[in-house]
Amino acid sequence: MAPEMLGLRLRQGGNADKAGFVGDQIERPGDYLELGPVPRPVPGPGQVLIKVRRAAVNPSDMAFIQGFYGQKRVQGRPAGFEGVGRVVEAGPGLMGRYLRGRDVGFYVTPDGSGAWAEYALTQAASALPLKKGVADRDAAGLIVNPVTAAAMMELVKPGDAFVFSAAASQLGKLIASLARDQGKKMIALVRRPEPVAALKSLGATHVLDESHPDFADQLATTFAKETPVIFLDAVAGSASARVHQTMGNNARWVIYGKLDVSPAEILDPSDMIFRNKTVEGYWTTDWARKTSFLRKLRVFGEVQNRFRDGRWTTDLSAELPLQQVIERLPQALAQPDGKVQIIMPEG
Ligand SMILES: NC(=O)c1ccc[n+]([C@@H]2O[C@H](COP(=O)([O-])OP(=O)(O)OC[C@H]3O[C@@H](n4cnc5c(N)ncnc54)[C@H](OP(=O)(O)O)[C@@H]3O)[C@@H](O)[C@H]2O)c1
Repeated sequence: MAPEMLGLRLRQGGNADKAGFVGDQIERPGDYLELGPVPRPVPGPGQVLIKVRRAAVNPSDMAFIQGFYGQKRVQGRPAGFEGVGRVVEAGPGLMGRYLRGRDVGFYVTPDGSGAWAEYALTQAASALPLKKGVADRDAAGLIVNPVTAAAMMELVKPGDAFVFSAAASQLGKLIASLARDQGKKMIALVRRPEPVAALKSLGATHVLDESHPDFADQLATTFAKETPVIFLDAVAGSASARVHQTMGNNARWVIYGKLDVSPAEILDPSDMIFRNKTVEGYWTTDWARKTSFLRKLRVFGEVQNRFRDGRWTTDLSAELPLQQVIERLPQALAQPDGKVQIIMPEG
């Protein structure tokens, strides 16, 4: 019999029956996940098996386990898209052989087995050997948000201003300092006053709080001054539609998340017809498919350098032992200003 491991396995397969949105929270993880023994995966050609130390918890995991992601669930397989650990076995292939015995930050490919388990399986090309000095808490979330930050900033020209919603997110914090270093002006939108000062000190040029009574006026004044043409938006609700409406001609509304669980709307279709405004989507998975290997290598290296020298850090709100995730995840996710990570039994 194949050896077993402990994992948080998916209780359902496929997508959810109805279309919907789940934001960044989960009410009853036990409806979707169960803790139990699962067969330890065996790496095939091009794959590596990783002994996981820590795994990230991201909004994309919430969407995925509840069946609202661009990738189908496989019933019984562990959840979790990314983490850090050591490559302990490799299937046939040069890259896997090179990685054996090395510490890696990794992203689980659709043919793999999730990071919320003692062992994860993925393609060797999705496991990044760690540079010395990168801490596990940073390496556990090395790909989803950091690579997205680097890739999304390719959409903005140096010297230009851009609008960024849900800016208190981990991604927002990474973008704030990256934008400053690249000479791009971030107009950060948050929904409460607490993160304003921190985002300014990280590098955002303007931070506007949607809960402020003068928010609409502040938005209009800031847009008149900075003339942003790109709106990077993870909220995609009615507040986002108003932001896009306030922007000038040619404004591109780039939707890369759906944190607002109410349906999205377009307030004035004539904006698209007569003012050349557009709405489009963005997914780092597509960026990875379209981007050359060399460019990706450069991005992976730069991402690690930024963590290593302290230009980026990972704020944590909770570290949950694997065995306590189902019970404690909802409360942990409700804490603001930090990521939740899962610690493996011997992590
Ligand atoms: N398309 C892609 O390729 C891609 C890649 C990476 C990430 N993403 C997306 O990027 C977004 C941020 O990810 P993350 O890991 O950085 O998030 P995170 O650190 O977990 O933070 C989530 C943030 O969302 C904010 N938020 C939640 N619901 C909101 C709402 N209804 N209106 C406004 N703000 C809301 C929270 O605000 P408070 O701080 O005020 O609670 C929090 O700051 C997610 O939507 C994720 O799916 C997409």
